[in-house]
Amino acid sequence: MRATVLYDTHYGNTRTIAEVIAGELGSGTTATPVTGFFPGALEGIDVLVIGSPIVGWNSTEPIQAFLAGLTPGSLDGMRAAAFDTRVKHFLHGDAAGKISHALQRAGATIVAHPQGFLVTGSRGPLAADARRKATAWAAFIGSELRATA
Ligand SMILES: Cc1cc2nc3c(=O)[nH]c(=O)nc-3n(C[C@H](O)[C@H](O)[C@H](O)COP(=O)(O)O)c2cc1C
Repeated sequence: MRATVLYDTHYGNTRTIAEVIAGELGSGTTATPVTGFFPGALEGIDVLVIGSPIVGWNSTEPIQAFLAGLTPGSLDGMRAAAFDTRVKHFLHGDAAGKISHALQRAGATIVAHPQGFLVTGSRGPLAADARRKATAWAAFIGSELRATA
């Protein structure tokens, strides 16, 4: 199984979560910045996890641009999941849900509910339990992948 955790980040918090998830998913998984990554680079990848900071209730522009480049059916046969990092606020928005819908529209099978991980301020750091929650979320994805292999 080849998996990619594609992410964008301004201050490093989303990269940290992406690396935790990639580490939990195990060998064959890379955490890759979205900058310079194009849909054609998905050739040979079975599992795609996408993560973004929430910026203005949505994912970042590079993540949105990547998703806009996915044509319907281009992710047929791909298993996928999405996460975001966010501040604790009742109006934080839901980038992970929007990413997840875009992946599904492109044909991917979503293997885990979209997940948000908290930062304690715009620049971070991550909330104390964010790494543990990311590990648990990735472990769930791993178990789903094994169950449906
Ligand atoms: C311009 C800007 C807009 C933001 N908008 C939101 C928002 O709408 N909802 C939210 O929960 N967090 C918002 N945040 C906080 C980011 O989600 C936080 O900076 C991010 O999780 C940090 O991740 P990073 O270190 O990977 O960039 C915003 C931050 C910035 C700088």
